[in-house]
Amino acid sequence: MLQWSIYLSILQLWIVSLLNVSSGKDCRMLKLKPAREGNSLQGHVIRSVMVKRDSSCLAHCFTEDNCMSYNLGPKLVDESHTCELSNSDHLVHPEDLVSREGFIYQPFENACHSSPPRCIANSSVCQNGFTDKGYRCMQGLLPFVTITPETVVTETGSHVKFTCKVTGEYNPIVTWSKFQGSLPDSRSIEKEDTLTLLNVTTDDSGSYVCTATSIMGTNSSSVQLRVHTALKFITRPTSSVLVYDGQALNLSCSASSDLQTNVSWMFDGTTTLPQGAAIDASDNLIVLFANITHRGNYTCTAMNSLTVLRANVNVHVKILKPAAE
Ligand SMILES: *[C@@H]1O[C@H](CO)[C@@H](O)[C@H](O)[C@H]1NC(C)=O
Ligand SMILES: *[C@@H]1O[C@H](CO)[C@@H](O)[C@H](O)[C@H]1NC(C)=O
Ligand SMILES: *[C@@H]1O[C@H](CO)[C@@H](O)[C@H](O)[C@H]1NC(C)=O
Ligand SMILES: *[C@@H]1O[C@H](CO)[C@@H](O)[C@H](O)[C@H]1NC(C)=O
Ligand SMILES: *[C@@H]1O[C@H](CO)[C@@H](O)[C@H](O)[C@H]1NC(C)=O
Ligand SMILES: *[C@@H]1O[C@H](CO)[C@@H](O)[C@H](O)[C@H]1NC(C)=O
Ligand SMILES: *[C@@H]1O[C@H](CO)[C@@H](O)[C@H](O)[C@H]1NC(C)=O
Repeated sequence: MLQWSIYLSILQLWIVSLLNVSSGKDCRMLKLKPAREGNSLQGHVIRSVMVKRDSSCLAHCFTEDNCMSYNLGPKLVDESHTCELSNSDHLVHPEDLVSREGFIYQPFENACHSSPPRCIANSSVCQNGFTDKGYRCMQGLLPFVTITPETVVTETGSHVKFTCKVTGEYNPIVTWSKFQGSLPDSRSIEKEDTLTLLNVTTDDSGSYVCTATSIMGTNSSSVQLRVHTALKFITRPTSSVLVYDGQALNLSCSASSDLQTNVSWMFDGTTTLPQGAAIDASDNLIVLFANITHRGNYTCTAMNSLTVLRANVNVHVKILKPAAE
């Protein structure tokens, strides 16, 4: 334990001197309070990162202006630790300090915690460790987030792209997530303000959230994605059919999807079928006694609200010549 605190004080000095060098910005000075082993502050995590060394977590908290305390997780199999940065601490929210095995809760002296409260003006946040007062008030608005489109209805296998427009002060950063679930890692591409999902499946249906974070806090907006099974033919006529004069012609066509699906027929580009051709209850095109007028191009059209599929069939009618005497 002694070793730990010496280690931290050296680090503290190092960071303070490091930040003193960078001019133009308020320098930051955080004073460590005793760490609490087996505890963590829940419900105030603003960012979570994996760190190789426990000291890196302190450095991350230092550079995140809203960080007021952090939770450091146990060493994992790959030697890394979870480092959770919080924008509050146990002084402000004593009820949120809970026991959590293997974790260490690290608070700092908190100049923002006072009575009367600091930075009470509207749209103002208190940041700990800045200026010679020990804190500073940052004023501004949350980022504005608009996501387009608001709803996407598509079918399996298609690619979907969402765009999140973020404006606001303090250079907000954009992150994407899925509400109740996770982004399909291998099929999602996050690039600047857009999220592209490749080759979507019905499991990708759900709500996708764009979150913008600045020092003023976070604001988010979401889009609904509904993925239906792709419309496909179950049976479709072959592209060419030969029928003899006087025989029956039966062209079957059916399609399925999880949306209402309609099947219809066209003849030589018109919706008028030749005399003697009829469509039965199962969408089959039936001619009981074919003759030359039934020759031509038939098109089966299957559609739902998302897609149209077509299958063409050329029907040839062969007249049997009476055998020579
Ligand atoms: C904050 O804004 C509200 C309405 O916008 C106003 O009624 C209130 O007085 C303001 N409070 C302070 C501390 O400025
Ligand atoms: C974001 O925050 C502002 C206030 O700062 C608010 O007016 C707005 O409605 C919020 N939501 C979105 C989606 O921008
Ligand atoms: C799309 O997904 C289907 C099944 O999930 C798979 O069979 C197909 O190869 C994928 N296509 C691409 C381009 O990834
Ligand atoms: C046409 O073909 C379909 C499928 O092959 C069959 O179910 C249907 O009974 C046939 N109709 C007639 C009138 O032969
Ligand atoms: C059959 O009709 C469809 C629709 O009118 C057309 O797109 C297709 O090219 C035609 N095919 C032939 C072989 O005439
Ligand atoms: C072909 O058949 C239809 C109906 O079955 C009939 O109305 C038409 O007259 C026939 N045409 C010829 C040339 O046989
Ligand atoms: C399918 O047909 C029904 C009845 O003819 C119609 O009300 C419905 O809008 C059609 N649906 C599609 C996707 O075309």
